[in-house]
Amino acid sequence: MPESIHDVLPPRALSQSAEAFIEESFQFQEIMMMYSSAIREVRTKLEILNDDLTMRNRRNPIEFITHRVKKPVSIVNKLRKNGWEISASSVVEHLNDVAGIRVVCSFIDDIYDVAEMLGSQDDVTVIKIKDYIQHPKPNGYRSYHMIVEIPVFFSDRTQNMRVEIQIRTIAMDFWASLEHQLKYKKHVENEEAIYQELKDCATTIAQVDEKMQAIRRKIESGMDDQELTPKEKLERLGNGLMRPNFSN
Ligand code: GTP
Ligand code: MG
Repeated sequence: MPESIHDVLPPRALSQSAEAFIEESFQFQEIMMMYSSAIREVRTKLEILNDDLTMRNRRNPIEFITHRVKKPVSIVNKLRKNGWEISASSVVEHLNDVAGIRVVCSFIDDIYDVAEMLGSQDDVTVIKIKDYIQHPKPNGYRSYHMIVEIPVFFSDRTQNMRVEIQIRTIAMDFWASLEHQLKYKKHVENEEAIYQELKDCATTIAQVDEKMQAIRRKIESGMDDQELTPKEKLERLGNGLMRPNFSN
């Protein structure tokens, strides 16, 4: 995989015409601004869902949210790999994952609740779903992926923007970070054995997630008829709101 922008776009091509270069960079900066706005919109929706559910129920479904905008070098790589034109409009037309949000929940049920609540909002169109929890990847990867499209309102126009959302448990996230590190390491001794160990870990983690979920269901079924007092509700809300959200 190329390491720098020069590996995918030779300097000669970039400087063919100064005017064209300035115009293209402006368009590129503009779409980057649009993607980060789309991220803010979706993050806010998720934070509102979390706050509301924290008030209504006895706990918050989302532990933390992170986001990222795809790096220019990865954008160019992906366009080039697929034989698509390298331009701002081509990015908007072809790529679904320039804006990415990761939502980390404690329990599997929370993942499906959050996905369902977000997907059913009037201004959210679900473009694609990949349920790697029901259908894990051969390496053991689990997560719930959604591509959604939302309208973002700018000064002179409304633009529909796509955002990739990955929703997973804390354990799935822990696993995916380690697996990601291995994928990008160039020389790893006993790589096959490590991949097998990771796969075994993924199975163990999935079992733990399911057990934790089952325990929580039991606890909650015993709590059904307990109403929270107003004071407890306020305390609960405070805990939810004060929980830190991290972004990368
Ligand atoms: P990309 O072209 O890589 O975006 O894949 P795709 O269009 O087939 O999408 P998919 O939903 O399968 O994966 C999207 C993203 O999920 C990736 O960019 C990763 O962030 C994450 N992901 C998917 N598979 C794996 C995996 O096996 N391991 C890890 N660590 N992350 C994964
Ligand atoms: Mg991707």
